Amino acid sequence: MRPFLRTQTALKCSARAARALPTCWAARPFSYSARAASALRPLDASKLEVTKNTTPKPLSKPEDLVFGKEFTDHMLTIEWNKEEGWLNPKITPYQNLSLDPATCVFHYAFECFEGLKAYKDKSGKVRLFRPDKNMARLNKSSARIALPTFDSEALIELISKFVQLEAAKIPEQRGYSLYLRPTMIGTQKTLGVGPPGSALLYVIASPVGPYYPTGFKAVSLEATDYAVRAWPGGVGDKKLGANYAPCIVPQLEASSRGHQQNLWLFGEEQYVTEVGTMNMFAAIKDKKTGQKELVTAPLDGTILEGVTRDSVLALARERLIPEGWKISERKYTITELAEASKEGRLLEAFGAGTAAIVSPIRKIAWKDETIDCGLKATEESGEIALKMKNWIEAIQYGDEEHEWSYVSSK
Ligand SMILES: Cc1ncc(COP(=O)(O)O)c(C=O)c1O
Repeated sequence: MRPFLRTQTALKCSARAARALPTCWAARPFSYSARAASALRPLDASKLEVTKNTTPKPLSKPEDLVFGKEFTDHMLTIEWNKEEGWLNPKITPYQNLSLDPATCVFHYAFECFEGLKAYKDKSGKVRLFRPDKNMARLNKSSARIALPTFDSEALIELISKFVQLEAAKIPEQRGYSLYLRPTMIGTQKTLGVGPPGSALLYVIASPVGPYYPTGFKAVSLEATDYAVRAWPGGVGDKKLGANYAPCIVPQLEASSRGHQQNLWLFGEEQYVTEVGTMNMFAAIKDKKTGQKELVTAPLDGTILEGVTRDSVLALARERLIPEGWKISERKYTITELAEASKEGRLLEAFGAGTAAIVSPIRKIAWKDETIDCGLKATEESGEIALKMKNWIEAIQYGDEEHEWSYVSSK
């Protein structure tokens, strides 16, 4: 597209953005690829070199684990440079990275990441949950910030070997798992603003306990209407580190007023987008017809394409539609939720994400109102949130054989 035409389109998009979330930017593919030169070496899992840690350290007892504080004895690293492509993957003892202070990741936020878990099933097999989805999302994130893309299947194979090596560090109790953090950073030493000529892809692993050790606890949210997490044409649908640091202050604001999370709204219409670092679902009864609807915001470029969101939607379509539910990916506003709540039509609401699977919501503070999300005082979860947790967990732990569960091998 000629630059002038591109500018015209951009202006039309941003004018429309003031009224509604346009899909024009979200839908437009970028043609730049850091791996464009086909002569570059692809990521090759068969080239893995393993150096075992000879001084493994003990981990805390499962019940004492704190999310993301303890790591296993090894890490997977793969270097990339623009002359050669992907170098041989390595599993080494867990160690510090040594980077020049001028490395571009520290200055211009060339960083993207993923979060997925490995689960041990009853027979001791180690399973990953829909790792193809995380790989696809990591590739989209890295491509957007001029970092290299990689063969998803090769990285799944490498992660599979990595979790096999760490199998003894995966707690066996239900609700426990090994949280995996694939991360990619630009490693070129330069203060020049441009595409990194070198990168590092690494994966570290942290044993974690259940999000709610003593069962569900429905949370209280504060709707944030003075700041936005993402915007049309932005990068809110990518898992970039740069998207997360600016979210902490609104989260602290919410917590200073006694709420566990903040709810991100967007635009004059105050569309409901995401809850903290989870996708948001609401179960609403239609005012006229009484039709029950499970609704979540659409993937318009401002919403992270959650793996759990996708799983909830797929299971809802398969298992709730036959029970008479309508499943919708559509825009909805906080006013719609407030009105439904006042009329007793807001049945339940919950966040969905890898950490908790689902997180039931009790109430939302919005301006001077408190929106009651339909739970009785004695309840910590609605019916749909509980069903979803049980359905997804059964697949993750291999109780139900399902194509989403990937059994790892050495
Ligand atoms: C902003 C945001 N939304 C939603 C999610 C949920 O995504 P997933 O289900 O893939 O964990 C996450 C967690 O990664 C997130 O950071």
